[in-house]
Amino acid sequence: MNLAKEGGLRRSLWLGGVFALTVGLTIIVGALQSPRAAAQDEYHFLDPPMCGACHQQQHAQWQHSLHALAHTEPIYDRYFIQASQESGGELEAYCASCHTPIGVLNGTIPFAEPPSGPEDTVLASKVEQAGVSCDFCHSIEGYTELRNASYVVDRSDTKRGPYEDADAQGFHESAHSPLHRSAEFCAICHVVDHPVNGIHLEMTYQEYLESGYPEEGVICHDCHMNRNLGDEPRRLPGAASILGPERDHVADHYFVGPNIVFADEPGAEDLRELSLKLLRKAATLDITGATYEGGRISVDIDVTNKGAGHSIPSGITELRQVWLEVIVTDGDGDAVMHAGALDAAGEIKPDTVVYTTIVKDAEGNATTKFWLTEEKASDYRIPARATLSETVSAAAQLGPGEYTVTANLLYRSVSPFGLGEVGMPEGEVIVPVIPMATAQSTLTVE
Ligand code: HEC
Ligand code: HEC
Ligand code: HEC
Ligand code: HEC
Ligand code: HEC
Repeated sequence: MNLAKEGGLRRSLWLGGVFALTVGLTIIVGALQSPRAAAQDEYHFLDPPMCGACHQQQHAQWQHSLHALAHTEPIYDRYFIQASQESGGELEAYCASCHTPIGVLNGTIPFAEPPSGPEDTVLASKVEQAGVSCDFCHSIEGYTELRNASYVVDRSDTKRGPYEDADAQGFHESAHSPLHRSAEFCAICHVVDHPVNGIHLEMTYQEYLESGYPEEGVICHDCHMNRNLGDEPRRLPGAASILGPERDHVADHYFVGPNIVFADEPGAEDLRELSLKLLRKAATLDITGATYEGGRISVDIDVTNKGAGHSIPSGITELRQVWLEVIVTDGDGDAVMHAGALDAAGEIKPDTVVYTTIVKDAEGNATTKFWLTEEKASDYRIPARATLSETVSAAAQLGPGEYTVTANLLYRSVSPFGLGEVGMPEGEVIVPVIPMATAQSTLTVE
């Protein structure tokens, strides 16, 4: 149990009241007169369901988010264990400072011994297990640098948020925090630099700064904490708490993103739907030409990033893959060309147009174990609002006739090669290939 003895006990009793109360509002009035919780020095972070007693919508959404799963989801877990083993535990606090910040603040991580398997990374404390959780984000009061988890945390019971006049009626103090309504808040963790050589491993915020969106006042939240996904209206009216007044904006806590590998549990349907929508609004394809000459089909395609506030893909681009598939079919619907198909091992075939980052280790080998990065061998992605013109071609034997040309832009969060590098047992996670955009045209051969 994480709660400090006395204050924690009072808090638990108090919250017992609140849980019961979701059933009947009378008890809460009594509960609200209970003594306020722990003094500053005994303050420990609270479990998300406790916050969820009064902030039901935030909790119902957050629990399916990747922030909630940041320490427990099996892909992170395998990479974390690998990084820990390869560094004799040295990298544990670095990784966990973003993936379970409370685990680090409470001193649970680094572990005494590098974990030898997933059973060793299960944390006894629920709030540490809860990854990037309510009480952590709402205790951030500042930062020292916009990268590598350089947050400054206030361990008092003041919760910081977007409102100037929030009144939590005695349960917690509230403070207006402009930082929480800014892209800088997200940048504290969404800029990942190599801990030794400083190479940018994730640079979503830098990409955002160059996107044109900051000048328009569009922030991360408008696309990732709002079911309108960046479109107007950008305000979602509602109540921020079962005990609070109507507000002109209550932000979504799904933190919707493209990675839906774990969005398959009951209750995550809404998140999954939003994720697929987000991916569909990210990019467009336009086939600008298709020719057949000298035994080769050539297809020209414009790929435009129209909806992401940063490059596509972004984030952990050493793992993420976005690529072009081009299929040409004859009148019978049989494929005469299929570029961008996966091979038998599920890897993207050579000569495919792939948007990703390839990093190399000290021996010059390409790896997804990004902590081994000594050099960025290539970084080819679609910058915000940019259009890249690609040509995809292949040899083919075509007779005269009309052919249909289909181009697809596909996304997946990690390759089988990556999963293999960290020893993920086959079949343990299913990583879907998700279509982001598609276009069709015809090719006439005389
Ligand atoms: C990754 C950090 C993060 C996590 C985790 C998080 N929040 Fe928030 N929360 C924010 C930000 C940022 C805002 C401001 C959003 C805005 O105004 O655009 C916010 C806003 C709020 C608000 C004001 C009303 C609203 O929804 O806009 C409440 C209440 C709140 N969060 C409670 C919670 C609770 C309860 C949890 C856990 C179940 C939680 N938050 C988890 C970052 C976080
Ligand atoms: C007993 C009910 C209750 C519990 C439990 C509770 N809150 Fe609140 N909280 C409220 C109320 C009421 C408000 C005010 C809402 C408003 O004014 O719209 C509020 C406001 C907030 C705000 C907005 C602050 C601002 O100034 O913008 C945040 C953030 C927040 N709570 C986070 C949390 C977190 C994190 C937890 C768990 C550690 C938590 N709350 C637990 C009732 C509660
Ligand atoms: C305390 C560090 C931290 C903060 C602050 C934070 N994030 Fe995250 N975020 C993470 C981590 C860690 C993950 C990845 C978890 C995983 O996949 O294992 C993540 C994942 C995400 C994802 C999912 C991406 C996908 O691939 O689908 C989105 C979207 C996101 N964050 C948006 C935001 C936004 C917007 C903010 C600011 C309001 C924010 N985050 C603040 C640490 C943080
Ligand atoms: C104009 C809307 C918009 C803004 C602003 C925006 N994003 Fe995104 N974001 C998207 C879309 C669309 C995607 C899906 C396409 C992609 O993966 O790039 C995405 C994907 C992501 C991902 C997953 C990357 C991947 O490819 O797996 C993360 C993490 C993320 N955003 C974080 C952020 C953060 C942090 C900010 C602010 C610094 C931000 N976003 C600003 C629209 C936006
Ligand atoms: C400064 C913050 C930060 C640090 C440090 C950090 N991460 Fe992350 N990590 C993130 C964010 C943010 C994302 C989400 C990016 C995205 O969705 O593209 C992420 C995503 C991931 C993912 C992808 C998970 C998935 O399901 O696709 C893995 C794996 C991962 N991190 C492993 C690690 C390991 C291992 C370390 C330490 C060597 C580490 N991270 C250090 C912030 C961090």
